[in-house]
Order: sequence, then structure tokens, then C-alpha cells
Amino acid sequence: MTSIGLSRYLSYDAKAIIYKEYGEPSEKIIVHDYKVESIKNDNEVLLELIAHPINPSDINQIQGVYPSKPELSVNLFNDESEVLKEASAICGNEGVFKVVEIGKNVKGFAQNDWVIPLFPNFGTWRTHVKLDMKGEAKLFNLNKENEKTKRFAEGNGGLSVNQAATISVNPCTALQMITKFLKLEEGDWVIQNGANSSVGKFVIQVCKNLKINSINLVRDKSSEENPQYLDELKSELKDLGADVVVSLSEAKEDRKLIKKLVKDVKENNTGKVKLGLNCVGGESCIPLIKTLDENGYLVTYGGMSKKPVILSTSSLIFKNLTSKGFWITRNNFQDPEEKQQTLDQIVHFYQNKQLVDAKSTHNIWKKGIAPSEVLALYQKALSNSSKNIVVYE
Ligand SMILES: NC(=O)c1ccc[n+]([C@@H]2O[C@H](COP(=O)([O-])OP(=O)(O)OC[C@H]3O[C@@H](n4cnc5c(N)ncnc54)[C@H](OP(=O)(O)O)[C@@H]3O)[C@@H](O)[C@H]2O)c1
Repeated sequence: MTSIGLSRYLSYDAKAIIYKEYGEPSEKIIVHDYKVESIKNDNEVLLELIAHPINPSDINQIQGVYPSKPELSVNLFNDESEVLKEASAICGNEGVFKVVEIGKNVKGFAQNDWVIPLFPNFGTWRTHVKLDMKGEAKLFNLNKENEKTKRFAEGNGGLSVNQAATISVNPCTALQMITKFLKLEEGDWVIQNGANSSVGKFVIQVCKNLKINSINLVRDKSSEENPQYLDELKSELKDLGADVVVSLSEAKEDRKLIKKLVKDVKENNTGKVKLGLNCVGGESCIPLIKTLDENGYLVTYGGMSKKPVILSTSSLIFKNLTSKGFWITRNNFQDPEEKQQTLDQIVHFYQNKQLVDAKSTHNIWKKGIAPSEVLALYQKALSNSSKNIVVYE
């Protein structure tokens, strides 16, 4: 950070990861160097990046294949002094920032509070953002105090960097899918495939917190090198709160296995299997629709196998199943209020240690490093198949 003129008036050395044409992210991203000046009016805030994840949707946006993407523009930074030569977009949708400067008309936020964007296409892969806060809500304060959540002196709402950077998509997806489509009673059951995915693990924990039971389908990737794969995965998911964990091959071999295990877990359980969550498609839908009770819902939110959803004729006619899709981005556009309520609930779960976040590889972006080093850091993170977050420190 460099100061110019009066001590109150600062100019920040900022960088943003941008692209000017669609294609393979590691080839298309550019590090753009620019200045962000201190806020000029009482409605503005100035934010500094803490961390952002690299999500599949961010990659798909740069590739130009995601349905929601920012328009390429020469005016990216809400600042007349920074007009680009070529229309571009800033990468990234999810991430956490710290309030560095705040105008006196901005209510509900304080310096150092950790905040996340409330709308997609925000451009989170940048070190600084200046925002005019007039009009619709643009930021969610992770450090606010209300009937569910507490304030923390550190500004972080009690959340870790990893939790804060990744709060907006996967945990919210899990909670909204469980609560949105139908009213589940305590003791009811949810069945899901891809249960070891990041969303799947949040589904298990949210179910446990709401006293809903979960049946979890996974792939058995045991091998000669790793014969314990399935046993270890089952223990991991059970530790998170899963009631039943079954591999797809076990379910295929014994069609009555899931019902048997459900009965074993809860002797006098009268709860119904009302909700099926599908992020895989293809054959892995079959145990879901076979286990769902009459009038159940099959909700599809991902297609990891790239195969179509299988829905039998009999399940539609005789069980009256309903098949729906879920996309959190659409939901946030349609119901911004619900987004804030969902975030309050997830912050509450984290503050009460009722939720464990998904592990990520942290890529440290040291302040002041050269653009070529920043580019190398992103290229490395993009080539890494594990979950990645970039931490600015
Ligand atoms: N609709 C929405 O609003 C929304 C929101 C968030 C995420 N999503 C979607 O939800 C899905 C999961 O996201 P995530 O971040 O939780 O994923 P993740 O943590 O990367 O996990 C991926 C999951 O997919 C499984 N999988 C991968 N390839 C597969 C294949 N060919 N056949 C069967 N299973 C396969 C993996 O199983 P193995 O471990 O056995 O490989 C794992 O369970 C993605 O499709 C994502 O785009 C949708």
C-alpha cells in the first residue's frame, strides 16, 4: 500500500486476474496491475481480498461455457481512471474480503469486517474492490450480530479463512436443497449419490443438524494399492453424521440392502425417504428412485458422470415422484433474501462447531510479488485437481 497526498487519502497497488477472450484458463488469464484510490464519498467501501476458491464454475466461465458469466467490458473497475484497451472480465465468483475503508453512510459494516459478495460474477480474483453501497444489498457481513450470529473482535465472525472463502456456494447449496423443496420432519430420510463430494459432505452434516437421516451412495474405488478405500470412506462419512453409507456396487448387487440398512439403523423409524439428491446422473440415479417413498422428490444439481438422469416410468406413475433441478445462482437472483437467511444459518452452524468445512489446498499470494509470480501461482493452482483456494497475505 502506498500513500499519496494527505494521510487519509491512499492509493492501493492492486492486481486483478482478468481474461479478454474465452478459452483454457491457464492460457487466457492475464494479471492486470492498477491503482485503487481511497473512497471518495460516504456511500463507498473499499475492500481487500482475504481469499477466494477456484471453483469449477469459475473455470467454466473463463472457458465461456457457463450459463452465467460477466459481460466483457473496458470499464471493469467502477473507476473512470481505469479504462482498459480491450473488453475483458475479472475472474471469480466466490471469495472473502476485508473492509479496509468505509464511508459514514454505510450501515451494518465496520472496518476489518469480513464480507462476501451477494451476487455472482463479482470478480473475486482481485486484491482490491471499491463499491458504492447505495441501492440493493451487495455484500454480506460474516461478522454481524443478530439472533443467530455473533460479532467477533477479529472481524471474522469466528470463521476460518477456508470457511469464509467457501461459504457462499457448497454449504448454501446443501442447506437450500434440504429445506426448499418439501417440509422434512425430524426422522425423515434424504438419499444422495456423490455423497463424498464437497456438497455431499455438507448435506450429511446439515441433515444431522436438522435431525434428518441420510443414506449416502459413493463409488467404490478400492484397488490393490488401496484396498481399504471404501471402509475408510464409510468411516469418514459416518464421522460427519451419515446414517447409512453404501457403495453403488453393493446397492446393485443386493437391491434390498439399502432398505435393510435403513431398518437396522432405526428400529422403530417411521420417517419416510422423501428427498433424493443427485449430482451424478446415469445409473447412480437408480438406487435413489428405488428407495424414495411415494410422492418423493428427486432433485438434480450436478451431472458428474455426464450421463442423463434416469427416471423410470413406474417411479413416475406408481410412486408419483417429482423430478426437479436446482441451481443456486438462479435461486440467489430470484430470492436474495433467502440467500442472506441461508448464510446466517451456515455462519451459525460454523460458530457452533456444527459444520466441518471441505479441505482445500491453500496457494499463498504474498502481497507485493511480481505479476509473473502471480500468474505462475494461478497456473499452478489451475492445474491442480484438488480443491484450491488462493489466500492473499
Ligand atoms: N446446482 C448448483 O447450484 C450446484 C452448486 C454447487 C455444486 N454443484 C455441482 O455439484 C457437483 C459436486 O460439486 P462438488 O464441488 O461438491 O464436487 P467435488 O467435491 O469435486 O466432488 C465430485 C464428486 O463427483 C463424483 N464423480 C466425479 N466424476 C464422476 C463420474 N464420472 N461418475 C460418478 N461420480 C463422479 C466424485 O466421486 P469420486 O470421489 O468417486 O470420484 C465426487 O463425489 C458438481 O457437478 C458441481 O458442479 C452444483
